[in-house]
Amino acid sequence: SFDFLLTVVAAYLIGSINFAILVSKTKHLPDPRTQGSNNPGATNMYRIAGKKTAIKVLLLDIVKGIVPTWGSYYLGLEPSEIGMTAIACCLGHMFPIYFRFKGGKAVATAFGCLLPVGISLGAVLLLAWIVTFKVTGYSSLAAIVAVGISPLATYFIAPKYVLPVTMLAVFIVLRHIPNIIRLVQGEEPKSRQRLD
Ligand code: G3P
Repeated sequence: SFDFLLTVVAAYLIGSINFAILVSKTKHLPDPRTQGSNNPGATNMYRIAGKKTAIKVLLLDIVKGIVPTWGSYYLGLEPSEIGMTAIACCLGHMFPIYFRFKGGKAVATAFGCLLPVGISLGAVLLLAWIVTFKVTGYSSLAAIVAVGISPLATYFIAPKYVLPVTMLAVFIVLRHIPNIIRLVQGEEPKSRQRLD
């Protein structure tokens, strides 16, 4: 339907708004795509600018994910269409039209996308993230673990969304390939470490 088409385009345009880049600009910080892990997301903002800025970026990227999924749900779209809306939003974050298609990994954005689908699903994945982060100290590994269990968790909690969640999981893991290589080589920096 026309509603669906419009929603997907809007979701991509909303997803393309990158808050790590925008917050850095307002604070006269360098582009996060040139510092640390070169990733414009909350984790790298923690390295560059500290906790307060990182939390601000994290919350804004989560809200950015909530808006399109909640909107498509509100418009009465089908679960498959809501799923594609979420994917469009996350692809916007990864390949933003406003920032030369060089975006982030969409962990916070994807988390926001699935909150309207089910608070309990979000809670399970958040718990997996927190436990992995506390135990290992790696934000990237925490994301990979949470994303890794997301298809199975969705199968049990919100089965209608297994396909889009699995597709999103594949995209997000692919975006973490440089992190996976560094983790295997023992060169991934602990995410609690600030840059000098
Ligand atoms: O959310 C992104 C995180 O999983 C990894 O970020 O900056 O360590 O590559 P970064």
